[in-house]
Amino acid sequence: MRAVQISQLDGPAAAQVVELDEPAGEDLVVIDVHAAGVAFPDVLQSRGLYQHKPELPFVPGGEAAGVVRSAPAGAHVRPGDRVAVLTMLNGGMAQVIAVPAAQVFALPDSVSLEAGAGLLFNDLTVLFALTTRGHLTEGSTVLVHGAAGGIGTSALRLAGPLGASRVIAVVSTEAKAEVARAAGATDTVLAEGFREAVAELTRGRGVDLVLDPVGGDRVTDSLRSLAPAGRLLVVGFTGGDIPTVKVNRLLLNNIDVVGVGWGAWVTSHPGELERQWETLKLLLASGQVAPPQPHVFGLDQAAEALAALENRTAAGKVVLRMRD
Ligand SMILES: NC(=O)c1ccc[n+]([C@@H]2O[C@H](COP(=O)([O-])OP(=O)(O)OC[C@H]3O[C@@H](n4cnc5c(N)ncnc54)[C@H](OP(=O)(O)O)[C@@H]3O)[C@@H](O)[C@H]2O)c1
Repeated sequence: MRAVQISQLDGPAAAQVVELDEPAGEDLVVIDVHAAGVAFPDVLQSRGLYQHKPELPFVPGGEAAGVVRSAPAGAHVRPGDRVAVLTMLNGGMAQVIAVPAAQVFALPDSVSLEAGAGLLFNDLTVLFALTTRGHLTEGSTVLVHGAAGGIGTSALRLAGPLGASRVIAVVSTEAKAEVARAAGATDTVLAEGFREAVAELTRGRGVDLVLDPVGGDRVTDSLRSLAPAGRLLVVGFTGGDIPTVKVNRLLLNNIDVVGVGWGAWVTSHPGELERQWETLKLLLASGQVAPPQPHVFGLDQAAEALAALENRTAAGKVVLRMRD
């Protein structure tokens, strides 16, 4: 089979397409992979900068989608089923993968395999962020940073159906504003000067929730953009720096800064992953939530796909097509 492999920590350019043996599938679900998700942690891993550091050489990729080739007796999926798969930290960018049945999720008919490859990691994180951690209520206003990225477009697709009446996207360019509107943003503002733009849009009230996968120097202005009792959801740090929060800001306006660690939550709360998937599956199958509209690269463009996240040219969730 063909797979993407990283054998030195030189960043996206080190991603090569190689021939590898297919995995053994005893007691596992074996999947013919059609598409694999590309996410920011893959970029960090390609430079050895992520908390999880696989041994070299490794196949990157935390999620994929494809068709079940074989499944152990008693598994909830069968050969021929269309599925999305969590490999969690790496291993997803291969034409055949073998994983425990608990990491395999049958896709609704309305979700293509390319959309399915970019679904689980971000949508389940965002669902967890907005509901379990953010307590999103009906009629809320939500501000989303990095809004044309993977987590960002997921937040734009989900916030409205989960109850938000206004979803403001923060993006770096007008082209990305277009991507954000297509994903569900009701308003878009440029990262440069976003605080003033948000104040104007909300007539000085501010927003109820900020979902932030960027961090860095935006955080202080995000806190200043919160309405009383608002929450800042800390999701990631694509901006590079891990910011410091002056806690006097929290008491001045009765606001919260809330950590969102989806992986840590689902691994420490048995049954939670299945419960989250049931919620998301119903939202997708009923048409309340639209599937992602991924930015698709061919397998031979794996290095470019990873680079698109690092150099901020990606338009929406990035996915690799693994076979023709
Ligand atoms: N906490 C959790 O459980 C969890 C789960 C999944 C992912 N994450 C984290 O969420 C973050 C986003 O992941 P993702 O896959 O959505 O990434 P992505 O698709 O690359 O999107 C990230 C966005 O960040 C913005 N950005 C701002 N400064 C940037 C910079 N210096 N370099 C790159 N992008 C920059 C970009 O938008 P503009 O160009 O418009 O600014 C980009 O669209 C990552 O830190 C990831 O580790 C956390």
